[in-house]
Amino acid sequence: MSTLSILHLTDTHLLAKGLHSSVVDPGEALLRALRSLVPVDALDLLVISGDISDDGSLESYRRVQELASDYAAHRGAQVLYAMGNHDNRPGFWAVLGNGHPGALSEPDGGQLPVYGSSRIGGFRLLTLDTSIPGRTHGFLDEGQLDWLAEELSSPAEAGTLLVLHHPPIEPVTPLHDGIELQNPEDLMEVLRGSDVRLILSGHYHHALGDSLILGDQQIPVLVAPGVVNVNDVLAPEGHERALRTSGAQLVTLFAAPASAVAARVRHLPLQLTEVESVFDFSPEEVAEISGRIAAQPGELEVDLGSDV
Ligand SMILES: [Fe+2]
Repeated sequence: MSTLSILHLTDTHLLAKGLHSSVVDPGEALLRALRSLVPVDALDLLVISGDISDDGSLESYRRVQELASDYAAHRGAQVLYAMGNHDNRPGFWAVLGNGHPGALSEPDGGQLPVYGSSRIGGFRLLTLDTSIPGRTHGFLDEGQLDWLAEELSSPAEAGTLLVLHHPPIEPVTPLHDGIELQNPEDLMEVLRGSDVRLILSGHYHHALGDSLILGDQQIPVLVAPGVVNVNDVLAPEGHERALRTSGAQLVTLFAAPASAVAARVRHLPLQLTEVESVFDFSPEEVAEISGRIAAQPGELEVDLGSDV
């Protein structure tokens, strides 16, 4: 496997009952998002990078698992889940196990942090638990950082994908200032010299791309917009505004040898909103209009208004 094709969703915030922010049915939002994503066919991995549940209920985890497994199974893809600050460790363990493909549920997981490692092709998948029960900000404890260092001590054939809910990069919107990952430098220390080629995160509820620069090494960090809502980064200064819409990311991670300092990463942001079409040309109409445009090379402006 020379590439890993990933669909990245996050912040589904499912509830056993009721509405999110008093207006959004999270189950409906997820269902609508997955319906919009039906055309995505070539897929190896569906990642849901945390805040899977809003109330920690078993029903909410079961519903996400049901929808995500069904979507992935139709595409021959695996599913990978990570813990978010709204998640509940006992509920997560009981339904999703450690969140890795093929993981068994662990009803006795209790308040143990949820993290793990698995393989898909030559790629290694790692998840960390940045949540602190009852708190909103993120933190990586020493136990997980030690485990991560041990795990990364030998490289994977094609490189490693790391998923953690709180991004190890600075927030953009005011409400997230203070509830970000509190110790990104501890993570960066462990990642230095490792084969981690890409980090996927959620939490900020809007798309954001950045990189960790560790000497010669560069690790892209991609934050996906929320499924339950999307934060408006263009809200007036000081405002935190969420929009009733959903987003996702399609990501291709290319295999890279252990000696590489970076891997190629392609990233396609997806806006999943049901909106009215302004126009919707059929392939035949496109060919016909293209033909007419080609036949008028001198025309800089072509009025398409009469074609629809
Ligand atoms: Fe969230």
